[in-house]
Amino acid sequence: MRYTRAKVEFQPRLRNAGEPVRRRYRILSGILLVLVLGVVSLAIAMSHNTPCGPTPPPTAGATAMKAIVHHCYGSADVIRYEDVPKPAPADDEILVKVHAASVNPLDWHYLEGTPYMLRLDAGLGAPADPRLGVDFSGTVEAVGKKVTRYKPGDEVFGGKFGALADYVTVREDRAIAPKPTNATHQQAAAIAIAAITALQGLRDKGHIHPGQQVLINGASGGVGTFGVQLAKSFGATVTGVCSTKNIELVRALGADRVVDYTQEDITRGTQRYDLILDNVATHSLFDYRRIMNPDAVYVLIGSSDHGHWFGWLWKPLQAWVISPFTSQKFGMIFADLRQEDLATLASLMESGKLTPVIDRTYELKDAADALRYLEKGHARGKVVVTID
Ligand SMILES: NC(=O)c1ccc[n+]([C@@H]2O[C@H](COP(=O)([O-])OP(=O)(O)OC[C@H]3O[C@@H](n4cnc5c(N)ncnc54)[C@H](OP(=O)(O)O)[C@@H]3O)[C@@H](O)[C@H]2O)c1
Repeated sequence: MRYTRAKVEFQPRLRNAGEPVRRRYRILSGILLVLVLGVVSLAIAMSHNTPCGPTPPPTAGATAMKAIVHHCYGSADVIRYEDVPKPAPADDEILVKVHAASVNPLDWHYLEGTPYMLRLDAGLGAPADPRLGVDFSGTVEAVGKKVTRYKPGDEVFGGKFGALADYVTVREDRAIAPKPTNATHQQAAAIAIAAITALQGLRDKGHIHPGQQVLINGASGGVGTFGVQLAKSFGATVTGVCSTKNIELVRALGADRVVDYTQEDITRGTQRYDLILDNVATHSLFDYRRIMNPDAVYVLIGSSDHGHWFGWLWKPLQAWVISPFTSQKFGMIFADLRQEDLATLASLMESGKLTPVIDRTYELKDAADALRYLEKGHARGKVVVTID
């Protein structure tokens, strides 16, 4: 009898003990479901391409200028050469008449909206701002009333989104500097992104110093042609990696040794390096380790992985995981268009230590062809767009 009572009292207590666990499980399942639905919805929103649609009507009363635009994400086929409103400088801005612009892989990332994460900034479905281009060189046409360092007629160069256009406005404290006196507009337009990337990769991340053995992988492209010259100007011994057709070019830029990647795998060689600037990420980080001195630095600039989602993150993630466990350092950089670095590069040009290599030039109306050519991944130096 006592046993029966104890059993009767015990059962309700068991039911009560199980209830909070079940409730917690239901809440957790609900949260997980909401999270999964959220991630799936975000993934759909991020990868969705809104159709291009018709050209928007001209803005009433606005002065028009020509510009390269894209109203949807896609290949160079979606690019249009259109009339858009000519910008007016704000109080702290400079209005620049663009004479030349250059294209970078960054431009086709914006054109295609890939990797999709970029669309969180550039716009979901379609670009929030249809303009393209960053690097420019031109003449100051007008300045806002707070601008003190520039006046109409000054020749300037730098980087500003929307540079593939007749005009661009740039804040006085942003990426703009006097054009090197010995440079043409085409040469000055070739500088901003590629040369600043090479400079910050070698100097700021790579801590380059004289006498070091420096390897530039992808030595014949936009970043690489600046990288070879800059590494030499820092007093390093430079090895450049490129394909057969570019060997003479890379040697002429000052490389002490040139390796043809179609004939030789650089990571199987006996030479050891203090600094690697990697523009193409064609080998695993473990392969690079084999040819790095114990305190060497590896700087990832770009990769040939053009995946739409997270493929591009794989190498930086590896670098982040490996670095704490080795005496060598692995890292990557995102170039920052700084005014003082533009000035440094301008003075290197003026002293004859840096000369942009220009592969091809296109007219503004043919900028889509410039991007098609660049996207093939075998430009020799920079691809420039000229603007009347
Ligand atoms: N992290 C940043 O802030 C930043 C800034 C600028 C650029 N980037 C990235 O850096 C990368 C390079 O930019 P870029 O402007 O120099 O591009 P680019 O002008 O298109 O140059 C690409 C170069 O890669 C070379 N190449 C192709 N396959 C190769 C291989 N297997 N081994 C060695 N070299 C090879 C090509 O030379 P051959 O014709 O001889 O094959 C070509 O000269 C891009 O991925 C870009 O997105 C990153």
